Amino acid sequence: MNVFLVAGARPNFMKIAPISRAFDKYDINYAIVHTGQHYDYEMNQIFFDEFNLREPSLHLEVGSGNHGAQTGQIMERFEKVCVSLAPDLIFTVGDVNSTMAAALVGSKLHIPVAHQEAGMRSGDKKMPEEINRIVTDHVSDLLFPISPQDRRNLYNEGIEKEKIFLVGDVMIDNLLYYTNEIKPEHTNEKHILVEIHRPANVDSEKNLTEIIIALSQLSEEYQIIFPLHPRTRKMIDKFNLWKYMHTIDHCDPIGYFEFIKYMKEAGCVITDSDGVQQETSVLNIPCVSIRDTTNIEYTIKYGTNVLVEPNRDSIYAQAIYPFYNKVSDSNFPEQLKQLNDGNAAERIAEVIKQCKKY
Ligand code: UD1
Repeated sequence: MNVFLVAGARPNFMKIAPISRAFDKYDINYAIVHTGQHYDYEMNQIFFDEFNLREPSLHLEVGSGNHGAQTGQIMERFEKVCVSLAPDLIFTVGDVNSTMAAALVGSKLHIPVAHQEAGMRSGDKKMPEEINRIVTDHVSDLLFPISPQDRRNLYNEGIEKEKIFLVGDVMIDNLLYYTNEIKPEHTNEKHILVEIHRPANVDSEKNLTEIIIALSQLSEEYQIIFPLHPRTRKMIDKFNLWKYMHTIDHCDPIGYFEFIKYMKEAGCVITDSDGVQQETSVLNIPCVSIRDTTNIEYTIKYGTNVLVEPNRDSIYAQAIYPFYNKVSDSNFPEQLKQLNDGNAAERIAEVIKQCKKY
C-alpha cells in the first residue's frame, strides 16, 4: 500500500507529524506530498526540522495566489503526480486549500481519499475553510472526525456511517508527545499571547484596527507577545497600524516549541485559530477567540474558550478577566478525554491497515 500524505500550510504540519509517526510504527508505506502553499522558513521548514519529519518526496511548489489560482494549480500539479505514481490512498488533513485540492483530484481519479478532522463545521460559509471542509468530506472515502459533534455533523449531511471513524485529535497527539520537551520558564509575570490571521479579522480595516487598539491598550498592563502571520503583517502595513504597535512585542512567526511554551506560560491567549482553541482548552489556558462561531464547540462547552467580537472594549474585557478571576478548568466528559489521549493517529493507522481494499 502506498499512501500520499498531503500537506501544504502551517496548520497541516503538526497534524501530519503524529500521523507519519503512526504510519512508521504500523509499517504503512507513505510519501509526504508538499503543495508549497506555505514556503517561508517560519511557516514551513521549521516544523519539518522540529518534528524530525522526513523531507517531502514530492514538492508541487505552488506558492501564494488567489483561491481559484492556488487551488487550481495544486490540482493541476497533483493530478499529474497521481496519474503517474498511482497511490493507493490520498490522506488529507485539516481545511486549507491544499486539503480540498488534493481531495478533489483523488476523487476524480477514483483514488480513495481519507480526511482527518472531518465534520468540523462553523456554519459560516463565508469562511474559505468551511467550504474546503464541506467539499473534502463529501468526496472522501474514509472520514476521521475528532469529536462526537463532528461525527454528528457528518451524519446530518448524509455521509454514510461506514466511512466514518471517530478517532480523536491528532493535533493533541502532537501536543502530548512533545509536552515534556516544552518546559515553561515559570516567570512571575503572565503575558498575553496573540495569534490572529483570519481574513475576516485582518483583511477588514475596521476589525483589524479594533483588534490592534485593544492589544495596544492591554499592553499598558501586560506583556503582549504577537508573532505576526505574513497576512497580518501585510494588513498592518496596508492599514497603517504600526503606530499602535510600539508597546507590543511583535516578531516573525515562531516555531511550534516556542509557541507552545509561550502558550503554557500565558495568562490568556487571544486568537482566531482553530488549533489554538483546541490546544489551550486541553492545556487549561484561558482563550479569547475573535470569531463569530467556533468549529470546535467542545472548547466552549467544556474548555476554556470564549468567543468575542472584533471590538476593542469586548476584547479588552475578556482578556483581562482571567487575570482577576478564577477561570474554571476544562472539564471534558470521559469520551472526549479518551479521544484526546494522544493515540488518535495510531487509531487512524489501525483503520487504514484493516481496510483491505486500500
Ligand atoms: C492559510 C489557510 C488557513 C490557515 C492558515 C494558517 C486557506 C484557505 N487558508 O491561510 O486556513 O489557518 O493558512 O497559516 O488555505 N505568505 C507568506 N509566506 C508563506 C505563506 C504565505 O508570506 O509562507 C503570505 C502571502 O502573501 C500570501 C498570504 O500570506 O498571499 C496568505 O497565505 P495563504 O496560504 O494564501 O493563506 P493564509 O492566510 O496563510
